[in-house]
Amino acid sequence: MESIIVAQGSKEEQYKSLIPQIASLIADESDLYANLANVVAALKEVFDHFWVGFYLVKEGRLGGEELVLGPFQGPVACTRIGFGKGVCGGAWERKSTLVVPNVDEFPGHIACSSLSRSEIVVPFLNKEGKVMAVLDIDSRELSAFDQVDAHYLERLFSPDFW
Ligand code: SME
Repeated sequence: MESIIVAQGSKEEQYKSLIPQIASLIADESDLYANLANVVAALKEVFDHFWVGFYLVKEGRLGGEELVLGPFQGPVACTRIGFGKGVCGGAWERKSTLVVPNVDEFPGHIACSSLSRSEIVVPFLNKEGKVMAVLDIDSRELSAFDQVDAHYLERLFSPDFW
């Protein structure tokens, strides 16, 4: 596949067109990092959000685990986030998607950029139910994300997709 082609339409229609294309994009590649990088590129290309990227659960520098910056597109960002910290660490802890309409109203939000005003974080669980990464998408607009984003982005991380 050389490019992602999504017709103009509602956000729902765009996701419906995009998700099968992402499925075929990752189908023939077994390297997780390469696939995460292409997922980020596809989402950024279609929706042009301010920041799209993954944080991967990895061994921390002081023992235990922490989120470490993975493939992303957008401005440089914080590299490490602790369990339960910020929106990303919160989604990891709860094992569920967090939609934040206004980052200034989210206690503990980690501001990698002052330009980011709303965000969504979706955890990526492996087949054993352990969070292996989170997808973080940030927007310059308030209330950029809703349950439509949550629904389709969660489908991206269902075990049968990978
Ligand atoms: N805002 C996130 C941190 C990551 S950056 O936005 C890229 C958070 O609160 O977890």
